[in-house]
Amino acid sequence: MAIQIKNFDQIKVMRRAGLLVGQTLQVLRENIKVGMTTDALDAIASANIKRGGGTSNFLGYHGYPKTICVSVNEEIVHGIPGARILNDGDVVSIDCGAIIDGWHGDAAFSIGLGTVNPEDQKMMDVCEESMWAGIAAGSENAHLSNIGHAIESYINSQGKYGILREYGGHGIGTEMHQEPHVLNFGRKGNGPKIIQGLALAIEPMITRGTEKTKVLEDDWTVVSTDASRGAHFENSFVICPDGKPFVLTAIDGGRERLGRYGIEISDLLD
Ligand code: MF3
Ligand code: CO
Repeated sequence: MAIQIKNFDQIKVMRRAGLLVGQTLQVLRENIKVGMTTDALDAIASANIKRGGGTSNFLGYHGYPKTICVSVNEEIVHGIPGARILNDGDVVSIDCGAIIDGWHGDAAFSIGLGTVNPEDQKMMDVCEESMWAGIAAGSENAHLSNIGHAIESYINSQGKYGILREYGGHGIGTEMHQEPHVLNFGRKGNGPKIIQGLALAIEPMITRGTEKTKVLEDDWTVVSTDASRGAHFENSFVICPDGKPFVLTAIDGGRERLGRYGIEISDLLD
């Protein structure tokens, strides 16, 4: 399928879906606690998406059985919620998506519970900032590969981390996963140009060790092969008809974090 370009009316619906995802992740962030099960997080997300008038895009996706992904410690992405109890010091990555009126949102964050190892915290902070650096590099008329280059450059400037190669970001719209695939590494100046109406999910995944991963017996959970802990952050953004970006899954549209890069977000969606 070709790259899908959204008109302003469609972008407005995508903002509703993205905001519901952002709010659901915020609720999860406020409620996650040592001692709870990952299934309890799934239930919170499911109820919140329903309350907001959306449906889950993860549930039933290639047979995926839950509403969110919860990946703990050496699990990097696509962990399936269940009876597992969260422990002090765990690094937990939560990925969530929702559909409103046929349009998708998709976002993720990582968080440490209780007493967090400072090296784990640094890894999460590096992963999060690399996502913002990637979005900041995705300005109108920039080449797509500038995003991955910015993500990789930032991560490598901060220390030795494994950047997952087999997974990356993607276009998003009337499907969760659309063209183009967005690498989290690479050189500048390659790939299609970023234009008004293009919506992309940017999602760096890193570990404190290897970039190599394997999928567990459950056919979903992606773990690092050296059992090093990982982090995953994701936001979906669009270039608006005024040529400015707007982060669909960020509650403030990305105003604060992109502002640090000197980037002004679109005010068309206020
Ligand atoms: N949200 C993930 C991504 O960012 C995909 C999750 S697929 C699921 O691309 F089936 F696991 F939900
Ligand atoms: Co995604």
